[in-house]
Amino acid sequence: MHKVLLLFSFIGVCYNSVEIGKYLKICKRNSVDLNDCMVDAVRKGIATMIEGIDELGTPPLDPFYQKDLKVEYNANQISAKMEIKNIYVLGLKDAIVHDARVRAEDDILHIEVDLTADKVYSMGEYQGQGQYNALKIQAYGDFNVTMSDLKFTWKLDGTTEKNASKTYIRINSFYMRPDVGSMMTYLTNNNAETKELTTFATGFANQNWRLLYREFLPFAQANWNKIGMKIANKIFLQVPYDDIFPIE
Ligand SMILES: *[C@@H]1O[C@H](CO)[C@@H](O)[C@H](O)[C@H]1NC(C)=O
Ligand SMILES: *[C@@H]1O[C@H](CO)[C@@H](O)[C@H](O)[C@H]1NC(C)=O
Repeated sequence: MHKVLLLFSFIGVCYNSVEIGKYLKICKRNSVDLNDCMVDAVRKGIATMIEGIDELGTPPLDPFYQKDLKVEYNANQISAKMEIKNIYVLGLKDAIVHDARVRAEDDILHIEVDLTADKVYSMGEYQGQGQYNALKIQAYGDFNVTMSDLKFTWKLDGTTEKNASKTYIRINSFYMRPDVGSMMTYLTNNNAETKELTTFATGFANQNWRLLYREFLPFAQANWNKIGMKIANKIFLQVPYDDIFPIE
């Protein structure tokens, strides 16, 4: 009985190894064309990952779905608590990959990818309460945000991690700080008590979107870091370093 189980688990382990070349273009670590190869690899990688890769457990990227996000903001006499739910982000599939820089060393991996996107559209449900001095406001409803002319660089950093005889990369950080050309927010508010404020609030938000974006950015970045690391590690922790970036 034990032997049979052992045999099955052994077969299981063998079949578990992912043939990554099916999904991603492989670039040689020490090639002089590594950066050019990476541009192509990211283009194809995004196209493949749009619908998600079941075998690796990566989620669909466009639309990207996030169940919820909580934000608590306290500054400039404003305190606000917001919970955003059922968030969908659309637009990554039309992003253009312009350039990439890779440093793939024995113990560290650093990847930078320059991208632009004409439009990124997000929508979801929100529930929020805010306080400005003595003024308290509660609101809930739907929202959508349209961002245009985005320019951003993905920066991924990882370190090697050994597992039995194989070496993997663990991505420890995912960073981006998108430059946004314009941002337009719409809110519906289903709270009858504050409904008449909604038009004013949205107008204010859209007139001051740069300020709003800057204040919201740290929350978004913490969120992206978590998501980016999780998705990247679905690949890097399941596929040996030498299979993703083989040495020539
Ligand atoms: C965004 O929400 C507003 C208000 O609910 C709606 O009128 C508009 O059509 C939505 N935008 C898009 C692109 O769906
Ligand atoms: C370690 O190896 C197992 C089986 O080979 C694999 O499933 C697992 O993902 C590996 N873990 C890491 C952190 O590399």
